[in-house]
Formats: sequence, C-alpha cells, structure tokens
Amino acid sequence: MGKNTWKVIGSGIVIILVMILVARPIYASANTIVALATEMVKDVVYLPLGQRDFGGHATQTFTPTSKASTMTTTPTGTSTVTGTFIPPLTPTFTLTPFWTLTWTPTLTPFITPSPTLTRTPTATALAAEYVLLGWNDLGMHCYNRDFQDLAVLPPYNNLWVQVIQRGDPPQIVTTGITVSYSFPDNTYSVGKSNFWEYDVQLFGVDLPPNVGLTGRGLSGDMDPTGDHFVAEGIPLTEFDDSDWVNRQPYQLASIVAKDQFGNVLASNQVVAPVSTEMRCDNCHSDGAFGISTGRVETNILTLHDEENQNDYPSGHEGPLMDRRPILCAECHASNALGAPGVSGVPNLSRAMHSKHDGEVPDTTDGCYNCHPGPSTLCLRDVMSNEYGMGCTSCHGGMSEVKNNPNPWLNEPRCDDCHTDPGYEQNNPLFRMSTGHGGVYCEACHDSTHGIAPSSEPRDAIKFINLQGYAGTLSECTVCHLTQPSFGGPHQ
Ligand code: HEC
Ligand code: HEC
Ligand code: HEC
Ligand code: HEC
Ligand code: HEC
Ligand code: HEC
Ligand code: HEC
Repeated sequence: MGKNTWKVIGSGIVIILVMILVARPIYASANTIVALATEMVKDVVYLPLGQRDFGGHATQTFTPTSKASTMTTTPTGTSTVTGTFIPPLTPTFTLTPFWTLTWTPTLTPFITPSPTLTRTPTATALAAEYVLLGWNDLGMHCYNRDFQDLAVLPPYNNLWVQVIQRGDPPQIVTTGITVSYSFPDNTYSVGKSNFWEYDVQLFGVDLPPNVGLTGRGLSGDMDPTGDHFVAEGIPLTEFDDSDWVNRQPYQLASIVAKDQFGNVLASNQVVAPVSTEMRCDNCHSDGAFGISTGRVETNILTLHDEENQNDYPSGHEGPLMDRRPILCAECHASNALGAPGVSGVPNLSRAMHSKHDGEVPDTTDGCYNCHPGPSTLCLRDVMSNEYGMGCTSCHGGMSEVKNNPNPWLNEPRCDDCHTDPGYEQNNPLFRMSTGHGGVYCEACHDSTHGIAPSSEPRDAIKFINLQGYAGTLSECTVCHLTQPSFGGPHQ
C-alpha cells in the first residue's frame, strides 16, 4: 500500500487528496467527483467511492462500464456510514478508464473512502497520460500441429503497438519508453508443439527451447520501429498453460509500456491469434487416393512423390518421404517465410490453390478446409457478422487466389470497396497503412479478418479497456485530452 494520489474535482475546484491508509471521510459538498488515476497509481488504487454499505440496509455496487458513464445513486435505507473501513476490502469492481459518479445531494453528508479498487493491470485509465494501442498484424497465424513430417508454417506471431501520449494534440511516443509483452497463461511452447525437435532439419537452426526463428521468446521487449513497436516471430502455440487439451486460438498478450525509470505508463491486453486448424484430413486421410500410411501428413507426401518426384529440381532430389521433415517452402516460394523457393517451381500459394481449385467450393466453408477453420472461425469481422460477407467477397475464389502474382503482398484493399475519400490506404497493404494523425488503421479497426466489432469476445477487451465499450476505437478523448470540435479519423 502506500500513498495514492487522487485528484478530486468538485464544484470546479481541484483538490489534491493524499490518502494514507486511513479511512477518511470526504464531505460531499459537490455532487460530481471525477477521479483521475495518476501516474503514481500502480496496481491497487483507493477510490473515494465504490461499494458502500449503507448500515446494512443496502449494498450498492457501482459498475462503471463506460467512459464518463454517469451513475446516479439513490440509496435505500438509512444512508449512514458507520464503522471503520479496513482496506483492502475485496475488490468489487474494475476501474474502467474514466468515470464520473453523480449522486443525489440528499445523500449522507460524508462518504467513507473505502474499498480497494483493483485496477486490473491491463486497464488503461482513460484519465491516464498514456494509452497503449496494440494488435496482431495479420488477424490469424497458422502453424502445423505436428512437424515430424512436414511444415507449411512455423509458430510465428507478430504484435504491433503504438503508444500515445494524451494531449492537445496527442503524440505518438517512440522514444524514452520500453514496451514489453508476455502471455500470462502461455509461458512456454516446448511440449505443446514438437517444433523444437525439428528446427534444425526444417530451418537449419538449433533454437533454444521456447525461442522462435527471430530469436524471440514468449515474453520480452518489443523493438522500436519508426512510429511503432513490434515483436515479430513470437513462437506462440494455441495452448494455455492451464489447458493443454482444448485449443485457444485467441491467446491474450499482456502489453506494458514503461518509462525509463520502470514506471508503468500504460498497458493493455491484446489478442495474438494462432491456430493449427488445417483440415487436410478432410480429404487426405488413410484410404484417399489409394494411399494409407497411417498419418495425414505422410499420405500427402506420398501423393506428392507419386505425382511430382520426377520433377524435383537438382539439389532437391529424392522422395520427400525419405527426407522428412519437409519444409514446403524449400522448393515452393513463400513470401510468408521470405523463402525464395526454386525457380520454375510454382510458389506455394499458387501450387495449393491451383491443385485444389475445383476440389473445394468457392465459399468460406470451402476455404476453411485449409484456413482456420470451422472451429477457429478466423473470419470474425464486422463485415462477415453484420453484412454476410465471406472470404470470396474480398479474395474471390480459388481461381483468383491461385493467380495472385505476389501472394501475401498483393491482397485486397479496403479502398477497393470503400471508395469514399478519407478511407484510402497510404500503403498497398492494410496492415502497413496509417490514417488519422499517423495512427495505424489496425490500431483503431483491429486486424484484417477481425475488423471491429468482432464476434470473438477477446478481441473486444482492448477496446473496452480503452474506451469502455467494444468496437472501432471511436472516442476522440481516448487520445485527445479534450474533445476536439472538428475533424476526426476520416474527415
Ligand atoms: C476438399 C478436399 C481436399 C482438402 C481439404 C485438401 N486436399 Fe490436397 N488434394 C485434394 C485432391 C482431390 C488432390 C488431387 C489428388 C489426385 O491428384 O489424385 C489433392 C492433392 C494434394 C497434393 C498433391 C499435389 C501434387 O500434385 O503433388 C498435395 C501436396 C496436397 N493435396 C496437399 C494438401 C494439404 C497440405 C492440405 C491441407 C492444408 C490439403 N491438401 C487439403 C483434395 C484436398
Ligand atoms: C523437392 C521440392 C519440393 C518440395 C519440398 C515440395 N514440393 Fe510441391 N512440387 C514440387 C514440384 C517440382 C512440383 C511440380 C510443379 C509443376 O507441376 O510445375 C510440385 C507440385 C506441387 C503441387 C501441385 C501443383 C499443381 O499445380 O499441380 C502442390 C499442391 C504441392 N506441390 C504442394 C506441396 C506441399 C504442400 C509441400 C510441402 C509438404 C511441397 N509441395 C513440397 C516440388 C516440391
Ligand atoms: C487445399 C488447401 C487450401 C484451400 C482450400 C485454400 N487455401 Fe489459401 N492457402 C493455403 C496455403 C497452404 C497457404 C499458404 C501459402 C504460403 O505459405 O505462401 C494459403 C495462403 C492463402 C493466402 C495468402 C497468400 C496469397 O495468395 O495471397 C490467401 C489470400 C488465401 N490462401 C486465400 C484463400 C481463399 C480465399 C480460399 C478459399 C476460396 C483458400 N485460400 C482456400 C491453402 C489453401
Ligand atoms: C469487397 C469489398 C470490401 C472490402 C475489400 C472491404 N470492405 Fe468493409 N464493407 C464492405 C461492405 C459492402 C460493407 C457493408 C456496409 C457498407 O457499405 O459500409 C462494409 C462494412 C464495413 C464496416 C462496417 C461499417 C458499419 O457501418 O457497420 C467497416 C468498419 C469496414 N467495412 C471496414 C473495412 C476495412 C478496414 C477494410 C479493409 C481491411 C474493408 N472494410 C474492406 C465492403 C468491403
Ligand atoms: C472484408 C474483406 C475480407 C474478407 C471477408 C476476407 N479477407 Fe483475407 N484479406 C483481406 C485483406 C484486406 C487482406 C490484406 C491485409 C493487408 O493488406 O494487411 C487479406 C489477407 C489475407 C491473407 C494473407 C495474410 C494476411 O492476413 O494478410 C490470407 C491468408 C487471407 N486473407 C485469407 C482469408 C480467408 C481464408 C478468408 C475467409 C475465411 C478471408 N481472407 C476473408 C480481406 C478480407
Ligand atoms: C483514429 C482511429 C482510426 C484510424 C487510425 C482509422 N480509422 Fe477508419 N474509422 C474510424 C472510425 C471511428 C470510423 C467510423 C466513423 C466514420 O465512418 O468516420 C471509421 C470508419 C472506417 C470505414 C468505414 C466503414 C463504413 O462503411 O462506414 C473504413 C472503410 C475505414 N474506417 C477504413 C480505414 C482505413 C483504411 C484506415 C487507415 C488508412 C483507417 N480507417 C484508419 C477510426 C479510425
Ligand atoms: C487513437 C488516437 C486518436 C483518436 C481516437 C483520435 N485522434 Fe485525433 N489525433 C490523434 C493524433 C496522434 C493526432 C496528431 C496530432 C499531431 O498533429 O501531432 C490527431 C490530430 C487530430 C486533429 C488535428 C490536430 C489538433 O489536435 O488540432 C484533430 C482536429 C483531431 N485529431 C480530431 C479528432 C476527433 C474529432 C476525433 C474523434 C472523432 C479524434 N481526433 C480521435 C490521435 C487520435
């Protein structure tokens, strides 16, 4: 415990109130109190209001749920507050960014400062000086469940962050701070994936346990990169420490920004989506195409050898079945891995989408044979939820995808369809584009395929932490200290 500083604004007067443990009555001469968390506040803060016990007649729990939500209380029973409050009481509500509590002036003349209010380490108080915007760049990362035979993609997740100092105007902060990430319920990957048994054969590097291809682990500092911070290549799996059985494709990262003295400036909880749901087994199980090796992966390699072995380029000869594990990108170029492939061999996207063109319907369910998937539901954005759009609405069908001249780097654009001025991307890729004030599109809208409001509840957490409700980051005062009278993201 210790000192906690509160600014209490009442009747226009700003009182700096330093509370030292003691339950001290505050006279309610004003009927509006705006509590502002200050930089001194760490994890636990004391608020002058919260749950109050009105002499046993009624217990009121205030649940501030949104920015500047106004709660008027009319207590029943005798509103006399007696007794000593012994902090810390059990937390009864979570501070959401910024709240105003109004009560009827007829209320008891004093309010006892009481219960402990736990500010979840994630809640970025709107009233705070800094806000942390974070997101995953792709909206979903897919990796193989089992690497003993083949690898399409390794565990490799990316997180992006922008830290904004609130003000008039707001400022994007890139220096003098550190930003770190961790996964409270996902602290290791070895044992959840056998990737580390095959890293040398697949990628030619012997990675330390739980370290991925870029040298990153499941926690660490992010790299400052121009106008943002990034953690690229986090070797994240879809299994919580607390549950190895049920997949959790929407892993929650805890991201914290600190100043040079180690004081927490802002934090948030951000989804890092990850899934192994590739349903190759829908068609490549034992018996299909006259092949039964006991595993889907070896069935696929056997089929590939049967069909192409005579064409394997020099330096890459021999049945794939004898050279396991196989990285598909050894021969098929993949921009996802920055792998050049072998010239003359089609890139992996082209090979996969052309071979399977006609084998799956040109619908979202068709794409979900290989992309995650009927259980993961990686497409969870507002356009699919509210406007019935599916993969093919934006990407076209298999024959369009297979003809993509530059897979991963040539993709649909928002401004292909949202043609009104103000929605233009300033980069060919959505994930690289910035809009209003240099803020990334994905900071306000979230990542592709998860454009807010998403149907995955975890995607909403960061927006609720920032503005009190789910959906596009819309509240100007998340970043601007005072409500601007004009302008805005797309004006
Ligand atoms: C909807 C059914 C279906 C699904 C799902 C499916 N495939 Fe196939 N796949 C096929 C068919 C049909 C063929 C062609 C078989 C033939 O030529 O006899 C094929 C062929 C292949 C080939 C051989 C290509 C060649 O010419 O060498 C590979 C490799 C392959 N699939 C990989 C995969 C992978 C990897 C997945 C999952 C990510 C997958 N497939 C999912 C139906 C499917
Ligand atoms: C040793 C090099 C090599 C590796 C490794 C390799 N492939 Fe191939 N693959 C080829 C060649 C060569 C072809 C024939 C290309 C052609 O028909 O022009 C081919 C064809 C294919 C096709 C059929 C393309 C079409 O249009 O008919 C698919 C699908 C495919 N590969 C998928 C995969 C997958 C999935 C992996 C990883 C499990 C993989 N390949 C690994 C060399 C390779
Ligand atoms: C048979 C499996 C399979 C099916 C079905 C499939 N994909 Fe893919 N797709 C893949 C694989 C494997 C990759 C990764 C290729 C790489 O690593 O470069 C991929 C990559 C992609 C990419 C990124 C690369 C690029 O070409 O830009 C897009 C976009 C894509 N798929 C869209 C679709 C859509 C839309 C559908 C449904 C119409 C679909 N896919 C159906 C296997 C499939
Ligand atoms: C293939 C066309 C297409 C593409 C590409 C597309 N959109 Fe949309 N989007 C629509 C349509 C159609 C709607 C339905 C309502 C409308 O017209 O605004 C919509 C709705 C939305 C909405 C909800 C608006 C509301 O009032 O509920 C948002 C937000 C949105 N799109 C953002 C984006 C972003 C960000 C991108 C790029 C990542 C994007 N869209 C790419 C066609 C598209
Ligand atoms: C509302 C439009 C829209 C829909 C619907 C949509 N996508 Fe995309 N997709 C995009 C855009 C835009 C990008 C490029 C993002 C960028 O530029 O950063 C993209 C990129 C991709 C990529 C490349 C990796 C990445 O995330 O950038 C894959 C793979 C992909 N989409 C697959 C799919 C699949 C599979 C579906 C259906 C389950 C689907 N998409 C539905 C708009 C859409
Ligand atoms: C500071 C936050 C912020 C940033 C940055 C931002 N947007 Fe928006 N965007 C919004 C808000 C809020 C709305 C809804 C109100 C509106 O339409 O102006 C919106 C609406 C949209 C819509 C409208 C959908 C519809 O049909 O109504 C599209 C498309 C869109 N944004 C695309 C983008 C793109 C592309 C970028 C990056 C170039 C971007 N946005 C950057 C906050 C933002
Ligand atoms: C995610 C943070 C964020 C949100 C939300 C946001 N802005 Fe901004 N805004 C900025 C940044 C950053 C700048 C750039 C300040 C500078 O010029 O350095 C800016 C600049 C501006 C400016 C021009 C500079 C100034 O302050 O005079 C106006 C006007 C503005 N915003 C209005 C709005 C309005 C209106 C809204 C809500 C509809 C809004 N903004 C929402 C971050 C945000």
